[in-house]
Amino acid sequence: MVGEYNYVLHEVNHVDNWGDILGSACSITCIILAAGEGKRMYSKAPKVLHKVCGIPMVEYVINCARELSDKEPVVVIGHGAEQVAKEITGVKFVVQERQLGTGHAVMQAKKHINDGDILILYGDTPLLRSETLARMHRVHRAEGYGATVLTSDAEDPAGYGRIVRRADNLVETIIEEKDADSDTKLIKEINSGIYFFNGRELKEAIKQLNNDNAQGEYYLTDVISIMGKKGLRIGAYKIRDAEDIMGVNNRYQLSEANEIMRGRVSKKLMLDGVTIIDPRNTYIEASVTIEKDVTIYPGCILEGNTIIGEDSIIGPNTRIKDGKIERGVSIQNSIVLESSIGEGTSIGPFAYIRPGNKIGKHARIGDFVEIKNSNFGDYSKASHLTYVGDGDIGNNVNLGCGVVFVNYDGKQKYRTYVGDNSFVGCNVNLIAPVRVDNNTYIAAGTTVTKDVPQDSLAIGRARQENKEGWVTKRKNK
Ligand code: UD1
Ligand code: CA
Repeated sequence: MVGEYNYVLHEVNHVDNWGDILGSACSITCIILAAGEGKRMYSKAPKVLHKVCGIPMVEYVINCARELSDKEPVVVIGHGAEQVAKEITGVKFVVQERQLGTGHAVMQAKKHINDGDILILYGDTPLLRSETLARMHRVHRAEGYGATVLTSDAEDPAGYGRIVRRADNLVETIIEEKDADSDTKLIKEINSGIYFFNGRELKEAIKQLNNDNAQGEYYLTDVISIMGKKGLRIGAYKIRDAEDIMGVNNRYQLSEANEIMRGRVSKKLMLDGVTIIDPRNTYIEASVTIEKDVTIYPGCILEGNTIIGEDSIIGPNTRIKDGKIERGVSIQNSIVLESSIGEGTSIGPFAYIRPGNKIGKHARIGDFVEIKNSNFGDYSKASHLTYVGDGDIGNNVNLGCGVVFVNYDGKQKYRTYVGDNSFVGCNVNLIAPVRVDNNTYIAAGTTVTKDVPQDSLAIGRARQENKEGWVTKRKNK
């Protein structure tokens, strides 16, 4: 899953020599810093696990690294290390026991720093694109920089480190907001926290870091001036869109990142042939797959590994999580969780499809029907006000209004079987475990407590008695 979504989000424009770029990039060592607590999130969860369009922030960054380099990325973890390590696979972990700053974090990964090109990334920049990194790497190489910093002019640079340039336009130093005087704060060019380094020089420079600054931390950014003083050329690779390198430090920025990513996800879908009536009121996670000629009405939330087949119509106001929806399905004002729905089936309005259902083709699940952990055959119908729990329903079955699968005796749950072509009348209770065979009729109002053989009618209800003249007699009393 992870390998796919990130790639599709990138608009690969204006890349000349893509082969060359990737050719030289494939042996880069990528180190991703993800050990910080993220104090400004006020959260139990480590910051980098907070999700953007359903995927932890750090995974976007890891995917950029994977797309750029063949080498397994190195991820520095610390705060909530176990949680982070559980969520993420296919990387090398380094533990930073105490979070003493970004420079200190890189020191912990020392054994992975070789003499080649090293890319440092921060785990809280989910909007980054790997093409940007590839282009930046090419410049880093061509210019022979000791280090290259990814920068951008930000409308509101507050909170970011500022890039101080020399007269010859090379980078002199990076000053953190908290250490900046009022003149420095006016600088609009910000540090993204993304750098290419010459590995040999980086190893030397991190030895010289100290924590003599406003935050008492070992800043990675100080490596830049250390290298500059040594006479190495430090370049800035400046991109136009500050959005791409936005760092997420608090929940407001998290919502901003979500909104931007949501825009990217839906734009990509629309360009690939999906109609989204109102993208601003539609929430589609980055992991969702939608085929062409699908129409999404407003108020939909599509999550997880949901797949929606061609020509389906979803919404308004529908939530689907981990749903496998085949082609030509219609789902209105409903919830579908961890279930599959066959071609041409119609769901809702106001249906609740709980986890574990396999619903067949050309079936119909109507209003106020709840169904869980059940198989529901092709051409079968439950049009209104029905509960189907732990059922196995064949093909071409009709469940009347108000049918209840009584699946629970207060201790255990049992299954109910209803065979092909059977007709279950209104207000029938099926007391599980029970088996209703093919081609049967269950009379309305029946409580089915024993199995019903094929081709029969089951009727189990109190016989009706009419007392003629009863109303008149009562009036006369
Ligand atoms: C950092 C940069 C700042 C830049 C900004 C871009 C430094 C000193 N400052 O500031 O110049 O403009 O990012 O977003 O580098 N981390 C660790 N271990 C630590 C501390 C942090 O792994 O001991 C990780 C965090 O998990 C995070 C990343 O490093 O993913 C950045 O840390 P954060 O505290 O967010 O740095 P900023 O204050 O945003
Ligand atoms: Ca940050």
